[in-house]
This record gives sequence, C-alpha cells and structure tokens, in this order.
Amino acid sequence: MASSDIDTGTVGPLARPRRNRKSPIVRAFQRETFLGPEHFVLPLFIHDAEQSVPIRSMPGCQRLGEVDLLAEVERARAVGVHMVVLFPAVDEALKTRTGDEAWNPEGLVPRTIRALKQRWPDLIVVTDVALDPYNSDGHDGIVSSSGEIVNDETVEVLCRQAVMQARAGADIVAPSDMMDGRIGAIRDALDGQGFTGVSILSYCAKYASSFYGPFREALDSAPRAGDKKTYQMDPANAREALRELALDEAEGADIVMVKPAGPFLDIIKLLREHTALPVAAYQVSGEYAMLKAAAQHGWLDERRAVLESLLGIRRAGADLIFTYYARTAAEWLRAG
Ligand code: PBG
Repeated sequence: MASSDIDTGTVGPLARPRRNRKSPIVRAFQRETFLGPEHFVLPLFIHDAEQSVPIRSMPGCQRLGEVDLLAEVERARAVGVHMVVLFPAVDEALKTRTGDEAWNPEGLVPRTIRALKQRWPDLIVVTDVALDPYNSDGHDGIVSSSGEIVNDETVEVLCRQAVMQARAGADIVAPSDMMDGRIGAIRDALDGQGFTGVSILSYCAKYASSFYGPFREALDSAPRAGDKKTYQMDPANAREALRELALDEAEGADIVMVKPAGPFLDIIKLLREHTALPVAAYQVSGEYAMLKAAAQHGWLDERRAVLESLLGIRRAGADLIFTYYARTAAEWLRAG
C-alpha cells in the first residue's frame, strides 16, 4: 500500500464501528441494557389437587399442587426472583355464567396467596383479575343471552374479585380483562375497603393474540364461543394503546403492561416514551412454546435465544417482564 493512499483517504472508511466491538472489555463498557432477576415475574399455574400435572404445549410448566408450588417458589427465590403471578385452573363444577367463584374468599387463589405470604412475607404476589378461569363461557367478562360481553356488570364482579384478593394478601392486582373503566372502579373499591397500599398493574395494551393458545390449554379456559376481539385490541393497531394508556393513568394504574411482548416491541417502546409509570411486558405462553419447541428440536440454543428475547423486551423499554422462563433465566444469569 503506497503512503500517498493514506494522504488521499482512500484506505477505507474513516469510521469503523467494529473498533468499539474489538474485545469483551471494550464491548462491556458500552452495554446499554441489563437483565437481572429483579426484572422477572414468574407466572404459576395452580390447581386444587395434590399432584402436579404437566402442560402439554408448555414443556417444563405444570399445573402445580401446593407442595410443588412452594418448592417452585423456593427455587425462584434462591436465584433472586421475588415476584410471582397466580393463574388458577378451576374445576368445571365451580364455573358459572357470572364467575362468582372469582370472589370466593375460600377459593383456590386466596388460599394460595395466604400460604405464600405466610411463608414469605416479602414475596410480591400478583393476582390476575378477570373472569375467564371461573366463567362457564370462557370469557374474561360476563356473556349476555345475546352473546355480548357486558362491560359494567363485569366490572362490578372484578371489583369484588380484586378486593377479595387484597384481603387475602395480594400485593399487586393485575386486571387482564380489558373491560372499560375497570382500573378506576377497582381503585375506588380497594381504597373504599382500606387497601390503599395495594397496587394495580393494568394489562393496558392487551392484544387479541394467537399466542395465548397454550395458556388457555393450561387452564382449560378457551372461550366456548366467539373470540375476544370485542375487548382485546387489534394486533394491527398502535394508536389505541395510547388511548388505553391515557385512561389507565387517569384512573390510577401504578404499572402498565403490554401483552404479548415479542411481537409488540414497538408498543412497549411507545408506552415507554409516553408514560413515567413503570412498563411491564408479558412474554406469553405461545412465545414460550415457540422457544421451547425450537430448543427441544435442537434448532436453537435455548439459553442464548431466551436471554436474547428477554434482553430485547428490556431494550424496548420494559422494566418488568412476566415470563415462564423467569426462574431458569435467573439461573442462567447467575451461572454467567
Ligand atoms: C386471561 C388471560 C390470558 C392470559 C393471561 N390472562 C389469556 C387470554 O386473554 O385469553 C394469557 C397469558 C399467556 O398466554 O401466557 N385473562
């Protein structure tokens, strides 16, 4: 190479971004996004039986009996995961049109909350507020005789459910039902009963997604008729998320959630840019199933792919991630 080439600048690009990637040490000081167990919420499927039952489309996940549930939480805590969310599989015999089992103070969820909080008072227990596990129609709200999901009648039941959960010791109630006005109504109901310290995590931008399939199998909670498109959002839309955000903020939400996570990273970013509240994202059952299936076939390196998917969700702007990989990912991070 002639020295005159250097003078005339024809040796190649002036800017070479690869210089800033040349060694692990050089890469480390520039890293913008971090993943830690404090960012994870572990979803737990529970049922009223001694034995745990594997979930076919979610290998590694089970409907847990009480003994296994406590063991699973113990393992999660050992690696720094201190937040869990409960999803009950409810006996068919207890399901009714109005889902009244949802606010039974002796139901599976309140009994489980009490058992968890008694053993670990500092564990943050998040509860699902919605009727689908309890509703004979498999919808998040009450279905009228004409097949409509009725809003205001549903919100009344959701308020009873949330208050009952708070009374049992829930730290954060998380309405996943997408009824209008439920955040404000639940806030009023909680405050009216003295539960001013119980937080509301709103499923703010929850989409009518195909990725919930394995979850509905896990709980046997699929809609008996129709779909959830009159209450969950159209996956084609972003602006609606801002409308839901404005309402949830005005109604007193403490944390706002986007669900699913992976296919909706732009929505996570959108909420992050428009709110000062913490943003959560739910890596849902179908996202878990995809990663698991590819890993089981040997098509993906499970550890690297899962941590990358979680990092992407954090990079988009999520403070909290609900993920079925919570405990495993925390174990991987600890191992380094
Ligand atoms: C229903 C609810 C669903 C999930 C959480 N709460 C399913 C649905 O809306 O049909 C899905 C979670 C997942 O797929 O992991 N209230």
